[in-house]
Amino acid sequence: MNYMDETGRVSFDFKGRSVIVTGAARGIGRALVKAFYDSGAYVIAADRDQKGLLETCKPFSERVAAIVADISTAEGASAIVDEAVTRYGHLDVCVNNAAVAPHTALLEERIEVWDKVYAVNCRGTFLMTQAAARAMILGGQSGRIINFSSGASRRGSPGGAAYASSRAAVESFSRVAAIELSPYNILVNTVSPGLIDTQPKPLPSDMAKSLRTRIPTLPLARPGTPEEVVSVVMFLASKASSYINGAVISVDGGAAVGTRPNKAVIDDDPRYFWVTDGEP
Ligand SMILES: NC(=O)c1ccc[n+]([C@@H]2O[C@H](COP(=O)([O-])OP(=O)(O)OC[C@H]3O[C@@H](n4cnc5c(N)ncnc54)[C@H](O)[C@@H]3O)[C@@H](O)[C@H]2O)c1
Repeated sequence: MNYMDETGRVSFDFKGRSVIVTGAARGIGRALVKAFYDSGAYVIAADRDQKGLLETCKPFSERVAAIVADISTAEGASAIVDEAVTRYGHLDVCVNNAAVAPHTALLEERIEVWDKVYAVNCRGTFLMTQAAARAMILGGQSGRIINFSSGASRRGSPGGAAYASSRAAVESFSRVAAIELSPYNILVNTVSPGLIDTQPKPLPSDMAKSLRTRIPTLPLARPGTPEEVVSVVMFLASKASSYINGAVISVDGGAAVGTRPNKAVIDDDPRYFWVTDGEP
């Protein structure tokens, strides 16, 4: 069941549900662990960064278990899913949030960096989806898998050759997974965030400078918060989204569809007067 409080904020009830969150050591993953915990779920918080993971899990004395594992390896992905099944008896939701996002010029790109991006972002998402789906099917139950993409997958942003194309691959992969897993009532969807404020502060100076130029062009003239992504993930993990499957949902304040207008919409285009008989 889901609830809406007097401010219109929706909260979800995941009592007794078992949820995996990868990339839980920071950023959106950390916010996901807290939100699922707050809504009553049993959570497996997975990351390769032990220090960050412990920081994420410190506030919770029950219902949150940390596992250090690398999603880009078959052993890592099975260890994460096995931990959920062994500890909680079943798996209901798997959120594949972990990713790497190194940016560099195409002409300078190194093969090993390209391969690493694909190993984590594509192979990791595939291995986690496969292991999670197998566990859900073995448990004889339905399930939800939520994968992560990025608005970068649709833009030709400089420096993003490996990252952006790897995120586009996840969208495509998730569509196939949604179709193949539909007979088992396992729904697979992708969340595609825009610019989300997850970077530790202070920002490196070049990044801060480029954001000062970019943020005013975003339709809402601000980055999103991790919580604004979390609420969409929770919706996709909840019964409220029972007929959404194979979708890519942008959480970007409209950045995928355009930039913020910086002046009045023009009204002196002659084509306007052609259809108004010269009336303004
Ligand atoms: N923050 C944004 O502006 C933004 C924009 C678009 C898309 N996204 C997507 O949202 C998701 C989360 O973004 P974020 O900014 O919170 O990310 P982040 O970089 O802050 O955190 C990613 C986490 O994934 C972990 N990770 C990386 N490789 C791993 C591996 N092989 N095994 C296990 N864990 C691994 C990292 O240790 C880290 O804790 C990512 O999928 C990202 O592509 C983020």
